[in-house]
Amino acid sequence: MATISDVAALAGVGIGTVSRVLNGSHQVRPTTRAKVHAAMEELDYRPTRSSAGSTARRQGFVGVLVPFFDEPSSYQRLRGIVQSLQPHGLEIVLYNVDAPDRARRRLVEVPQHQLDGLIIIALPLRSEEGDRLAQAQFPTVLIDTSHPALPSVLIDDRRGGRIATEHLMSLGHERIAFIGEPERNPFGFVSSRYRQEGYTAALTDAGITFDSRYVKHGPHMRTAARQLASELFAMADPPTAVVAASDVQALGALDAARLAGKSVPRDVSIIGYDDIDLAAYSGLTTVRQPLEVSGQRGSEILTGALATGIRPIPFVEELAIELVVRGTTAAPARASKANRRDGTPMVVCAFRPPVRSNTVDGAPAWWETAVVYQLYVRSFADSNDDGIGDLAGIRGRLPYLADLGIDAIWLNPCYPSPQADHGYDVADYFDIEPDYGDLEEFDALVRDARAVGIRIMMDVVPNHCSSEHAWFQAALVAPRGSSERERFYFRDGRGTGGDEPPNNWQAIFGGSAWTRITEPDGSPGQWYLAIFTPAQPDLNWNHPDVVDHFDRMLRFWFDRGVEGFRADAVTVVGKTPGLPDNELQQGAARPELGASNAHFTWRPEGHAAWRHWRQLVEAYEADHPGRQLVLVAEAYTPRRPDILRQYANDEEFHQAFAFDLMLAPWNADAFRDAVRSTVEAMMPAGLLPAWTMNNHDAQRAVTRFGRADAETHGAEIDGVLENSHATVDVDTGTRRARAAALFELGLPGCVYLYAGEELGLPEVLDLPDEARQDPIFARTGGVEIGRDGCRVPLPWTDDPATSFGFSPHGKNDPWLPPPKEWARWNVASEQLDPSSMLSLYRRALAVRRATPDLTLAGFELLLPDDPDLVVYRRGEVVVVLNMSDHERSLPADLVAGRRVLVSSVVEPAGSSRRSPGRNGNGRNGAGSVGPDAAVWLGR
Ligand code: NOJ
Ligand code: CA
Repeated sequence: MATISDVAALAGVGIGTVSRVLNGSHQVRPTTRAKVHAAMEELDYRPTRSSAGSTARRQGFVGVLVPFFDEPSSYQRLRGIVQSLQPHGLEIVLYNVDAPDRARRRLVEVPQHQLDGLIIIALPLRSEEGDRLAQAQFPTVLIDTSHPALPSVLIDDRRGGRIATEHLMSLGHERIAFIGEPERNPFGFVSSRYRQEGYTAALTDAGITFDSRYVKHGPHMRTAARQLASELFAMADPPTAVVAASDVQALGALDAARLAGKSVPRDVSIIGYDDIDLAAYSGLTTVRQPLEVSGQRGSEILTGALATGIRPIPFVEELAIELVVRGTTAAPARASKANRRDGTPMVVCAFRPPVRSNTVDGAPAWWETAVVYQLYVRSFADSNDDGIGDLAGIRGRLPYLADLGIDAIWLNPCYPSPQADHGYDVADYFDIEPDYGDLEEFDALVRDARAVGIRIMMDVVPNHCSSEHAWFQAALVAPRGSSERERFYFRDGRGTGGDEPPNNWQAIFGGSAWTRITEPDGSPGQWYLAIFTPAQPDLNWNHPDVVDHFDRMLRFWFDRGVEGFRADAVTVVGKTPGLPDNELQQGAARPELGASNAHFTWRPEGHAAWRHWRQLVEAYEADHPGRQLVLVAEAYTPRRPDILRQYANDEEFHQAFAFDLMLAPWNADAFRDAVRSTVEAMMPAGLLPAWTMNNHDAQRAVTRFGRADAETHGAEIDGVLENSHATVDVDTGTRRARAAALFELGLPGCVYLYAGEELGLPEVLDLPDEARQDPIFARTGGVEIGRDGCRVPLPWTDDPATSFGFSPHGKNDPWLPPPKEWARWNVASEQLDPSSMLSLYRRALAVRRATPDLTLAGFELLLPDDPDLVVYRRGEVVVVLNMSDHERSLPADLVAGRRVLVSSVVEPAGSSRRSPGRNGNGRNGAGSVGPDAAVWLGR
């Protein structure tokens, strides 16, 4: 028989929402209501068995007495009760006692009711009240309250107060305040008193003298707590941290901090209580009580009694609690450095952003935790034997992608293009490149992908179009100063006859950023700006046509079912007005390249465009209930997460690639810093990072990590995406790439994979010069070999005759030649080999999907000073990456009670994976991780 929880699960909402729908509440959105009704119908759920209106003796009814049913913590306990009672066919009679006199009356009345059992939640009982209940005809179980005559399940509030206070002291706080509830609270909230006792005990144990000035009591209300906290902050020696005995009081303290101009957690740390959604929304560090579990345990005791007919003896069962560290606690300003050196774990936790359009009941949007597969259309799969990948090729491989376990595909540009920069020179933003297919084929791809649960994202190129775009062609024949030319940056040259470029800017791919045109009358003419290659003229975002064009483009593809865009090169949109010379060029790391030009990098002028796009997306979502769209910025900001945040926020891009991890060399400090700084920049603001280790511009990880200098060189040199030339050991690189992938896939947020990394493909370094197509190769006169090596068509089989299965019959050579050794890395063979990279990715993605902690839990960096290991915790899961060349043992408390969920090391056949100690990557007796290896440990 379907239960209310089944309905909630199927509809993707909470049980409360279902019950609100059943009660006809107006607070439920029509779309949600429709979903709940559909789920009830599908499951054939019958909400009430008592609706027959019979006055006969009730059968199978359990009374639940609860103060403040609407209070979120009560509600959570109720959820646990409902879940446990329903399978037994027991229905609930809810007594919501929201005033003390009503509570007292109920305690007299209820024992006379014809119930099968009673549960009382968080209501302190007088001695005679408990005694009366103990003599009633039915058994009573207490939850979070106790009485000597009755069984009870209790959350240890003293311990809660203690761990909150201890956490703050471990960060270096000494002046810690407590905000709780008055002793004579009408409901006698004993929990507040116990929490305070734990607080006091922790201080005393640490040798800190208890100072009553730091303890305040007030009603369980946000406004009251705000007042109390304001008083605390106005003291001459104000507290640097506050423990609040409840969620709403913590919110009041946060309000007070804001009013006092204090930044949280820099100036003041705040801990709340009850890890309910409200806390998660506000990024609060809280004490998590197993509220739902207490409901379940209480119910189990009761159902046990009902099944056996034996009344449980009076006893107290205590439940464990834990601290959930989010963004509101940190070391006090002065002590932070010292503490980090002490090895105090840096802790940051995820919390769900407060507002997202079209999400169900505040659940994260799909893209926040998705695994997206970046697919270079040209190189993925060729369906018609012309040697060029195409959309039909992708459609044919959807089963492979579905099996891999990805959530979405990002297609590199597949618009009509002369391919001067392989699609990043778009000639028409509203069509499909004929080599790749047509709009009909595209629609079919979106449809088929959806059918296997995969969303399609595209690539939007706003900074420039192709020199063959109709606009640019029109500009060439239009006069100086015309609106056609104004859509770009046309300027007269300097010097005699305007022979010199308008300024000294260099192009990012080499050479001048300016190209001179010939005017329609045949005379040498103006110059136009193109900061990548001359085939990619920069668009002028001050021109309304440009803004309008991209509005139309985004909507055009959203209408076709595209769920998001990766936005190309957004940091170079917006140029210093007047286009002055780049005075910094000479001091730059690579003056011959434009990448360090401050006049077109990170300019404030660009951001108006992104704010406008975000508004467009949100308006589109509002008009299309159920659609969740994402814009991810390619914003290259090496080691400047603060600048990254200027692009990724609630007003501009939903995400921006966290490139620092991809740039990092193979050493623990670099990886840890990349993760820590990104997480710290994003998560306290309610944003989850978008990680990536590979893409079509960077050298593949296997090669990067296999370089002899991998420990000092990542994917960049002096901030420019560039490769080291040290020798490569592919085996080392493969081992490390396996470990890095596992490390990355456990991180909080979204992960972007690049096609071929799941096969462990190395970079192809020895392409013949004549085969090379990347404009970087030609523009730098071959000094830079460019990016072709990561764009070689994918190997699907071990058959060289069909370019390893890339083309069906191999009639035409593929557009870049795959090397012979690729017989070693291909889908067909790897699918059969449990030790292959492909098998590792599949396993990791499957476990990630099946382990909610890996997507939803917070993030805590452990062992922050370890020279070899980078370790973090996500809920119950611990991820360990050993970046050293020797085996490392793990602290016992990380290993205890955990087993290996996934290991980057190939397990010998027949080994069982019971505990990291016996079967982890390392050989030592205690839990250990081998060299260049990573492991996910879970319960
Ligand atoms: C970044 C893209 O990823 C790269 O491939 C392209 O060449 C440049 N932007 C210019 O569009
Ligand atoms: Ca083709």
